[in-house]
Amino acid sequence: MADVGLPVDEVYEPPARVREGALVADMETYREMYRRSVEDRDAFWREMAERFLTFSKPFDRVVEEDLYTGKIAWFIGGKLNASVQCLDRHLAARGDKTAILWEGDEPGTNRRVTYRELSEMVNRLANALRRRGVRKGDRVAIYMGMVPELAAAMLACARIGAIHSVIFGGFSPRSIRDRIDDSTCKAVITQDEGRRGGRAVPLKANVDEALAEPGHSVEFCIVYRHTGTPVNMVAGRDEWWHDAVANEPAECPPEQMDSEDPLFILYTSGSTGKPKGVLHTHAGYLLHVMCSHKYVFDIREDDIYCCAADVGWITGHSYIVYGPLGNGSTTVMFESIPTYPDAGRYWDMVDRLGITVFYTAPTAIRAIAREGNEHVTKYRRTSLRVLGTVGEPINPEAWRWYFNVVGEGRCSIVDTYWQTETGGHMISGLAGATPMKPGSGSLPFFGVQPCVVDEEGRELEGNGVTGRLCMKASWPGMMRTVYGDHDRFVQTYLTTYPGKYFTGDGCHRDKDGYYWITGRVDDVLNVSGHRLGTAEIEGALVGHPAVAEAAVVGYPHDIKGTGIYAYVMLKAGYTASDELAKELRDAVRREISAIATPDRIQFVEGLPKTRSGKIMRRILRKIAEGEPENVGDVTTLADPAVVRDIIEGVGRAR
Ligand code: PRX
Repeated sequence: MADVGLPVDEVYEPPARVREGALVADMETYREMYRRSVEDRDAFWREMAERFLTFSKPFDRVVEEDLYTGKIAWFIGGKLNASVQCLDRHLAARGDKTAILWEGDEPGTNRRVTYRELSEMVNRLANALRRRGVRKGDRVAIYMGMVPELAAAMLACARIGAIHSVIFGGFSPRSIRDRIDDSTCKAVITQDEGRRGGRAVPLKANVDEALAEPGHSVEFCIVYRHTGTPVNMVAGRDEWWHDAVANEPAECPPEQMDSEDPLFILYTSGSTGKPKGVLHTHAGYLLHVMCSHKYVFDIREDDIYCCAADVGWITGHSYIVYGPLGNGSTTVMFESIPTYPDAGRYWDMVDRLGITVFYTAPTAIRAIAREGNEHVTKYRRTSLRVLGTVGEPINPEAWRWYFNVVGEGRCSIVDTYWQTETGGHMISGLAGATPMKPGSGSLPFFGVQPCVVDEEGRELEGNGVTGRLCMKASWPGMMRTVYGDHDRFVQTYLTTYPGKYFTGDGCHRDKDGYYWITGRVDDVLNVSGHRLGTAEIEGALVGHPAVAEAAVVGYPHDIKGTGIYAYVMLKAGYTASDELAKELRDAVRREISAIATPDRIQFVEGLPKTRSGKIMRRILRKIAEGEPENVGDVTTLADPAVVRDIIEGVGRAR
């Protein structure tokens, strides 16, 4: 959206009903806690770790970090297990409390899974995995839909020290295989089918296709039966979940994990190459997500908390599964989409389930806002207290709609800025304390030390500055490495501005110290809150026999935030046609996922390149954004005429 990232001179105080009884109810408390978290970092995090986590062996030191070599460790020497934090600790006081409140694809299809039931599910599956040879440190891929068993599968891996790698259910067989191969997964946990907006998602069939070519590392698959649609079961490899756990005891001794032992890998797109396996660990990650979940949303014991993201993304890992379950909350798991059966689905669900804290993405807010207020006002929404947003900058117009129409001015909005790599919230208000500005993530979370640098890496001091967002020190939930490629971790995040973690985002710090994210400054796209790399999409396009070269850029899109614009140069002998554009879209879908499908494809005769052969994306971006007059100086290009041709051809984009 055009107005994203520009400061808006409006301030909204947290409503009194939200402030009342809040954990942090005023800015003095926030400021004092924040000050301690950076000035007296060890003591602050020691105290938080002791309050939020239960170590079976206490840690010796709080943190050791080197932001040049990427050696980062928190709570050194401690022993614990993430599944114990999320389950066992709650059984005595909260055994019968609903842990997961599931809302299926059809409105009103619900399942309540108590902490005790979830614990049993997890323990049985953990035993089944162990019996099949899964050991501490082994990788297990999970390719499932939004069902409670998905959370159980993650926690079962954690329990035996296996590293889970959840693959978003929208990814293609090719993408599944790439991820399985990259981390040599020993097993896959999947389900027959998922459901989304009235449609079936062929999860098991996709896994079959992913594993069709030999040469993979997968020894067995466990298949959860959800829809009951018959699926192909490969003898000797595939087994039903219910059969696998049938005779397993409901108790499985947890592996004692070192604070720094890996908990999971989650693949995410960068500017170059294939998606990388972001690795998070047991103690630091868990503490960060629990602590931020608690403070940012101001979680209370009887909250019905709902994050409407997908567990296949980091938002779901941190704020559907680990944060809320670590805190003993009731977490809603939503299988459907915001527009099914109509644009009122969220608020219908809010009323039926009594949801008090609701967390979604700007793209969903925009998609339902345009369908009309009546979809909102026909529901009461009186249970709501806190609204959250995540995934991309929210434009002030959508923010105001969320605040005024959905929240009727009675709820706080927390705009949480963070990344797969950061594990948890980095910049966000606290629901009960922070004055809100529409479109700003506001202020750093505890322990987070943001800074704004110019292109040369000089830190811009003071307020009213614009540049690139970095972090000056590590924080507990920071990724530890790229799985199997530590150099890539250092190269990608720590070398652009040596000694600092570079987010890849541009930002403005306003006169009050509030941060406004202006979006990615690299070749990463944020499409409907899904993160994609332009290089991956280009790779899929070039894989088609007709394509000589392709360049992909983002452009502002009313609903998706960012749309995908592909410039495609054909090989000799091929001609541009709608048919070919369709084939290319299909190729991207097949190679990556439907979410990566280009919105616009423009066939071009040539791409703007420097004399050394580098594609000038800046120019392509301006053209895709509909600002050809701002392409800037093109005289240094190898062939300046291509720019004019491309501008002339915009109207013929398909
Ligand atoms: O550009 C920022 C944007 O999403 C990127 C991270 O994407 P991903 O790793 O998929 O994680 C998304 C969910 C945490 C960031 O580099 N982003 C995320 N949240 C916000 C945001 N941009 C502005 N405001 C936000 N609240």
